[in-house]
Parts: sequence; structure tokens; C-alpha cells
Amino acid sequence: MTRASRSGGTKVGALKRTWMGGTAGYLLARNLAFKHAPAAANALMRLTNISGRGRGRDGSEAVPYFRGVAEDYEVIARAAGVAESRGSIFAGKRVLEVGPGNTQAIAMVARARGALHASGWDAFDVVSRDRAYLNAIYEPLLDAIGDEGSPARVIELLGECRVHATRAQLEKQAPFDLVISRAVLEHVRDLETLHRDLAALTTDDAVVIHKVDLRSHGHQLTHDLDFLLFSDRAWNGLTTHIGEPNRARFPRYFEIGERHGFRTLYAASTRVISRSEAERIRPRLALPYRDMSPDVLSVLGFWVVQVKPGHPLASRAIHPESLQPAPHDALAPF
Ligand SMILES: C[S@@+](CC[C@H](N)C(=O)[O-])C[C@H]1O[C@@H](n2cnc3c(N)ncnc32)[C@H](O)[C@@H]1O
Repeated sequence: MTRASRSGGTKVGALKRTWMGGTAGYLLARNLAFKHAPAAANALMRLTNISGRGRGRDGSEAVPYFRGVAEDYEVIARAAGVAESRGSIFAGKRVLEVGPGNTQAIAMVARARGALHASGWDAFDVVSRDRAYLNAIYEPLLDAIGDEGSPARVIELLGECRVHATRAQLEKQAPFDLVISRAVLEHVRDLETLHRDLAALTTDDAVVIHKVDLRSHGHQLTHDLDFLLFSDRAWNGLTTHIGEPNRARFPRYFEIGERHGFRTLYAASTRVISRSEAERIRPRLALPYRDMSPDVLSVLGFWVVQVKPGHPLASRAIHPESLQPAPHDALAPF
């Protein structure tokens, strides 16, 4: 190594250390707010309508997003072979959406497509209480899916549907035969308990579809995997009360799912970086990430379809070590 490249490396190292210090300070401040004043922190999040779906996706501009999200579940269900040949995957189902965000838009679409009921489960109390804000999304969304976008129709579809915070509350609606989530599981700190609870709340032939985003959620300086530079101890300690990414990599989701009786029928990557890009940072990552293969580290998001043991396709379960690409052309660009 030349002196110039050594000093370049030292500068990058110093920059990364400064960035890690700043990130730790930011996480600490947010964590303290949610730990000591959870009601106020939650209310602030709700009042500012922090949606989790990115900027500019409110009112009628949210319509393509939610339409795409709902349609993606149908596309992925077909790719996995769990959809009926005709009709919607929601038809006749008792649906549970994990982490719906600040609306019940997907529950509403599911109901419009024939779901018997559609409940939500969210660890944070973020669903907007602002009827005007919600109806500005719901009504054009109903129109866009060929339904009737009116306040009365919204009430008819969602009147009985609630978002709950605990398993005990959901037990009154259970069992569910379809579970869906998008951009949620990566925020769940205790994936074992979530899967145990989902197993208890679902029918023996239930279908589960998750889209999981393994990216840094903004915690990066120069590399997509910068957030894996933090040790688990430091990261977990800084995020005890906030929904930052749990940093689990894709195989862990399948292992935990299997332990709780969810058999993987289909898995596909949504985003990847190259093996060489993953290899470039791997020696500097904290454990256990440093010991993971570049094939694992390179996956930055995935779809998974799982079924419970009583499902007719359960015997076709797979144990994927690497993932095929998702059918991007057929999916929404979000
Ligand atoms: C990035 S947002 C995604 C929202 C929505 N699915 C969407 O696509 O617009 C993540 C959601 O997961 C919820 N969440 C975080 N941790 C959770 C947990 N342990 N259990 C259930 N929901 C959780 C958050 O409150 C938030 O509603």
C-alpha cells in the first residue's frame, strides 16, 4: 500500500468515525424522547403525518402508491402459486396487515376486493385521526380501483376495521388466513415474538406475504452497508424504543419463520448490490456481519411468501440460500 493510499484510507476512516459519532448522537436523542415521553413523541409523529412511505405521498399523490402496494401482493401471490386463478387474493379472507403506517388504505382495498375483515397491527400509534387527511387518500383510491370513492363507502368498508397494538386485542378478530406487510419486518426488534404471535393468530393453512427492506434507512455515509459498522450491542442499545432497522439479513427471516411453522414457498430479492461492493466493506463490518457471505450481504431487500403446515402447498417449501430477482416489470416502482 502506498503512503498516499494509506493516508486516503485514514481520512475515510476518520470520516466514518465522525459519521458514526453523529449517527449515535441522533439515535440516542430520539431514543430518549420515545423512552421518556412516548405519548408526546408518538403524537408528534402522528400530527406531522410521518407516513413511512416517503415524501409527497399524501392526498391523491398517495393513490399510485397504495394501488401499487395492494396490486404487488396479488402479483407476488401469483408468482408463489398461492393465488386462485381468478379473483383477488383478498376475497373471502380475514386479513391482518402488520405495520400499516398512518392510514388503513390497504385494509380498505382488501375489503373492497372482498376481504371479510381487515385488521392492522402496529407497535406505534401512528394512524392519523384526521378524517380529511384520510379521506383525501381513501376516496380517490377507491375511484382508482373502480370502486365508489365516497365517505359512505369508506365507512362501509372500514367501519369495523381497527389497527391494534397488541396480540391480545387481535385475538378477538383471529384467526387470520392472510397476513401481509410491507417495509415493516426490518423495524421489528423481536422477530421471534412477532412470528410466535403470528403463528398463534393465524389459521393452519394461512398465507403470509412480507416485503422486507434491508437498506440502511438513511444511516449511511458512503456505502449501503455502513450501518453494519456499529456493533449489535451499540446499535441495539441506541434503538431500544424506536423503530430503526433491526439489521437482520435475509436468511434470519427464513430461519425464524421456519422455527414458528411458516414454510417458505417463494423468495425473491427486490434490491441487490454487487458481490464485490459487499466484499469491499465486509472486513470492516461488526460481527456477525463480517462473517457473512457477500451473497447474503449483497441482498438489500426481498419478498417472501410463506404458508402454515396445513396449506396444500406446504410440502413444496424451499430453503433459499441465494435469491432470484423479483419480477420487477410486473411490480410497482415503490
Ligand atoms: C416504513 S413504515 C411502512 C408503512 C406501510 N406498510 C407502508 O408501506 O406505507 C413501517 C411501519 O411499521 C410499524 N412498526 C414498526 N415496528 C413494528 C412492530 N414491532 N410491530 C408492528 N409494526 C411495527 C411502524 O409503526 C410503521 O407503521
